[in-house]
Amino acid sequence: MTSPNLTVPAPTITDRHFVKPLLCGPGPSDLLPSVVEAMSKPILTPICDELFNVLDDIRSGIQYMFQTRSKTVLAVSGSGHLGMETIITNLVAPNETLLLASRGIWEERALSIAKRRGIKTVVTKVPFTATFSLEHLERMLKKVRPTALFITHGDSSTGTVQKIEGLGKLCHKYGALLLVDTVVSIAAVPFLMDEWEVDGVYTSTQKALSGPPGISPVAFSAKAE
Ligand SMILES: Cc1ncc(COP(=O)(O)O)c(C=O)c1O
Repeated sequence: MTSPNLTVPAPTITDRHFVKPLLCGPGPSDLLPSVVEAMSKPILTPICDELFNVLDDIRSGIQYMFQTRSKTVLAVSGSGHLGMETIITNLVAPNETLLLASRGIWEERALSIAKRRGIKTVVTKVPFTATFSLEHLERMLKKVRPTALFITHGDSSTGTVQKIEGLGKLCHKYGALLLVDTVVSIAAVPFLMDEWEVDGVYTSTQKALSGPPGISPVAFSAKAE
């Protein structure tokens, strides 16, 4: 067989050696040894019982992590931003309104995703050092009547943790869904999806979960379905 006429030659890729960095930020974090071991396991065919067993384990793990009995849980193959896009674009349609409770940079990312999708947006803010009171959010829900409220639980850009307890009930009182970013908070501080009546939530594996980047666990409530 003749070799094809390649216009791009094979690159010279050197075997790069890295000194292990000291990771002290909110993420990426060092991998847990059990994660390193799991990542060295063989690739399975997509049509074998072993793989379905692993998928069941992933589902149970996500339900435990978010503390939800919802069956609509999945691990999206992408970073936390893809989880953000997944819950916003699946729960808010173009021309519907998304209320963004903004106290750092992450709601600005959500804002740009929503705008690109043709979703109407209303932003309410508190200073970067503060978190939202339920009274503030109730006032906005009453005034805006959005399809959903988006809020960040642990905010890595400001170092604050937002109280979510009580917020789901409030959103539902005004016919809105509650969407929560838990990228840095999950496995660091408690999060109770069902008890707090959260409708759409996502996280990322490279933060307090001490896994690799590139996986975004996501969950939807029965109301969101
Ligand atoms: C609170 C928060 N939300 C979202 C993200 C985005 O996650 P990712 O980098 O996995 O896309 C980050 C990343 O640092 C974050 O800290």
